[in-house]
Amino acid sequence: MTHIAHADPRSTARGRLVTLEGIDGAGKSTHASWLADELTRRGRRVVATREPGGTPLGEKLRELLLREPMTHETETLLMFAARREHVERVIAPALARGDIVVCDRFTDATYAYQGGGHGVPLPSIAALETFVLHGLEPDLTLLFDVPPAVSRERLARAVAHGRALDKFESEQASFFGRVRDAYRARAAAHPLRFRVIDSTQPITAVRGILARIVDEIAT
Ligand code: TMP
Repeated sequence: MTHIAHADPRSTARGRLVTLEGIDGAGKSTHASWLADELTRRGRRVVATREPGGTPLGEKLRELLLREPMTHETETLLMFAARREHVERVIAPALARGDIVVCDRFTDATYAYQGGGHGVPLPSIAALETFVLHGLEPDLTLLFDVPPAVSRERLARAVAHGRALDKFESEQASFFGRVRDAYRARAAAHPLRFRVIDSTQPITAVRGILARIVDEIAT
């Protein structure tokens, strides 16, 4: 088993870390697989992964995080515990090989959900980010932006098709309003890293935007 207590993920970052973010129901996961397939088709080696999850332990933590009631602080710590495993075992090695990592959610989700949604102080999240990631940041973050009402509508359609909602998806519209605001604040604070994509557009229009992004990062 590798131990990287002293490793600095930045020193291995030769590939590219592309993250996808947005409130539940923004359509991000469908776009994540399309993006990964398209980059692969263009000859790039791609690792498609997700958070919370991406490792055997991370997937177990995901089960707990999406189902079990817990304090907001516990939730924040478990998100970062899963992330540490993920970075050490999957993301940093992939970046070191020069791969493109397409990650469905990353640290911005903790700022948005635990920070914006649940009110965990942002400096506490920033302290955990420094402790766990040693400065590793995505190279590009695609924020799929939809108003909470659209997200609720999409989730209601999923329920009508027999899907059970998880702990986060069952939150009130006001929660998603705060999460969305926090995401948009992150995007405004990091304009070079973020692309905000209006995800209320038809899927073909969003694909058109993503195709241009693929052109940029595939080369
Ligand atoms: P997903 O449904 O997009 O896979 O994400 C699972 C849920 O986990 C989603 O509702 C957002 C939540 N989440 C957080 O609250 N904080 C985080 O740091 C991450 C990565 C996800």
